[in-house]
Amino acid sequence: MLNFDFYNPTHIVFGKDRLAELDTLVPKKAKVLILYGGGSVKKYGTLEKVIDALPGRELKEFGGIEPNPKFTTLMKAVEVVKGENIDFLLAVGGGSVMDGTKFVALAAHADGNAEDLLAHGFQPVPVTTAIPLGTVVTLPATGSEMNSGGVISHKGGKFPVFSPLVFPKFSILDPTLTYSLPPTQVANGIIDTFIHTVEQYVTLPAEGRFQDRTAEGILRTLIEIGKKTIDEPTDYDARANLVWCATNALNGLIGAGVPQDWTTHMIGHELTALFGIDHGKTLAILQPSIWTVRKDQKRKKLLQYAARVWHITKGDEESRITLAIDKTRAFFEELGVSTRLSSYGVTEDRIDDIINALESHGLTALSETGEVTLDVSRQILKDAM
Ligand code: NZQ
Ligand code: ZN
Repeated sequence: MLNFDFYNPTHIVFGKDRLAELDTLVPKKAKVLILYGGGSVKKYGTLEKVIDALPGRELKEFGGIEPNPKFTTLMKAVEVVKGENIDFLLAVGGGSVMDGTKFVALAAHADGNAEDLLAHGFQPVPVTTAIPLGTVVTLPATGSEMNSGGVISHKGGKFPVFSPLVFPKFSILDPTLTYSLPPTQVANGIIDTFIHTVEQYVTLPAEGRFQDRTAEGILRTLIEIGKKTIDEPTDYDARANLVWCATNALNGLIGAGVPQDWTTHMIGHELTALFGIDHGKTLAILQPSIWTVRKDQKRKKLLQYAARVWHITKGDEESRITLAIDKTRAFFEELGVSTRLSSYGVTEDRIDDIINALESHGLTALSETGEVTLDVSRQILKDAM
């Protein structure tokens, strides 16, 4: 096992009917900015309940944070924060709203040009204070509710932004708030959770037995409840399991002490930036092809994945790996998500554009080993057509 630090200060408040507890979670004297997306929280009544739970505080609202939140939109929120002397941020929404709120928390206290915050990749941004924030989660997918990162869209790219200062102080995870999600967003969330897990598990063997077994537990759970929670959205236990898997897939626990890949995410971000494909769907398109192209480098963990997640133990190594990849693809397709780039209207002649974008963002040595060069990415994209 590799050396690691594990730090996660987020207070999770999980379960039905817990929104009223916001009153004890948000400081009594806070000047709060409530941030949300395109309106689902208004339509389904969540915003009203949030406001009702915060009597006595000065409340302002900032709506309109779009999926794949834009730097320019978020800078408008920063103006509100500065103009109104806001001292607590409350994100009510999915990953985009939570990520956007984290960025606002950092940018409001950053000296100099806020655009510079986008230039640090997976390293913490050089900021020493941030506005404290909490979240009310309406979409289980990103794990943003219990991690210190966000992804911000700007000038045709998607940029990770990290800082331990933006771990949420608390996150309310009430699975019933997610019942109103359209099936395609639930599928996106299942796939995002699945891929977060495998990007920290199907890498190189590292004797992280707890991490591996926990990752396998998340994957098995998603396979068990995935289709059910799409078909029966108000089945509480199925949805509650999805919500808790999503949080644990990206709160640092399973990735501590083991190699991490992130190729799928980095190429996926370019597909979203260039073609507007939902984050979860980009991952479903890329993962089977990444494993097909890199099966020699990932052989040991792919065989472990085949055996422990899909119970594939018969046949030679090659056929076990192929079957595991096929089963993964079939799982995504069963959730209603197409796994071929061409089905999203992207033609092979656009591969050059994707490669150029990867190059311009410095993504030329991806994966747990840095072996995914632009040539390998090209092979992956061809395979994914
Ligand atoms: O904007 P509204 O009207 O709220 O509608 C949203 C949006 O259209 C809707 N929605 C959310 N909750 C709902 C609901 N509709 C009905 N009922 C509800 N309860 O769902 C749509 C998508 O929302 P969004 O927040 O964009 O989705 P998601 O949670 O999948 O977040 C995706 C973003 O997270 C980033 C992605 O890159 C993308 O920008 N990621 C963040 C990560 C992190 N912070 O650690 C890691 C991930 O890998 C990912 O990159
Ligand atoms: Zn993701």
